[in-house]
Amino acid sequence: MRIIPKILVFAGSLRSGAFSISTADVAMKVLALQGAEVTRISLADYPLPIMDQDLEKEKGVPDNALNLARQIAAHDGMLIASPEYNASIPPLLKNTLDWVSRVRRDGTRALKPFEGKVAGLCSSSDGNFAGVRGLYHLRAVLMACRVEVVTPQCSVGRAGEAFDENGDFRDERLRRQMEMVCEALIERAKMMSTRLVP
Ligand SMILES: Cc1cc2nc3c(=O)[nH]c(=O)nc-3n(C[C@H](O)[C@H](O)[C@H](O)COP(=O)(O)O)c2cc1C
Repeated sequence: MRIIPKILVFAGSLRSGAFSISTADVAMKVLALQGAEVTRISLADYPLPIMDQDLEKEKGVPDNALNLARQIAAHDGMLIASPEYNASIPPLLKNTLDWVSRVRRDGTRALKPFEGKVAGLCSSSDGNFAGVRGLYHLRAVLMACRVEVVTPQCSVGRAGEAFDENGDFRDERLRRQMEMVCEALIERAKMMSTRLVP
């Protein structure tokens, strides 16, 4: 019996030509090469209102939050590639995680989407900081949601020049960083997975 970890990959930006989307593309390729079963999603497919507890009380958790919660629950881990906004988490990503953290049930079944999940993190920016400061906050938010976050991370600075014509990293050091994030994520996801594939 072996375990093929299922990893959900998404970016924390919807911008056309987003560096974090290109970074998520690299992560997706590396995870697949390392043997993971990868599902790629865009948060554009899960639009959500700004978190508002009055709205939550009146209408409940939006369907898109439940749909995303189901996706997360169906995977062993997540790879998130995000920009930083003012040295922190972009509102799209924070709002999405906040809504998903409010999911408790799927119909009559209890659903804790983040329970027992592991995440790997990447960042990107055209600047020198490479979005790394935002990852400290993203890491803390995920840990508050009880997601385990692996230590290696991959941050792409000067992202406008970082990708070649195939969408791969030009820099060998970045390639190795991404491999290390993916290796750590897969390793941990395997240990935490309860699914065995014959
Ligand atoms: C509100 C706002 C705040 C930003 N703050 C930062 C920042 O703190 N550090 C940084 O490197 N870039 C910052 N940027 C620039 C973004 O990193 C840049 O637009 C990046 O390309 C966005 O990520 P994306 O390419 O994945 O969409 C900021 C952009 C916006 C709109």
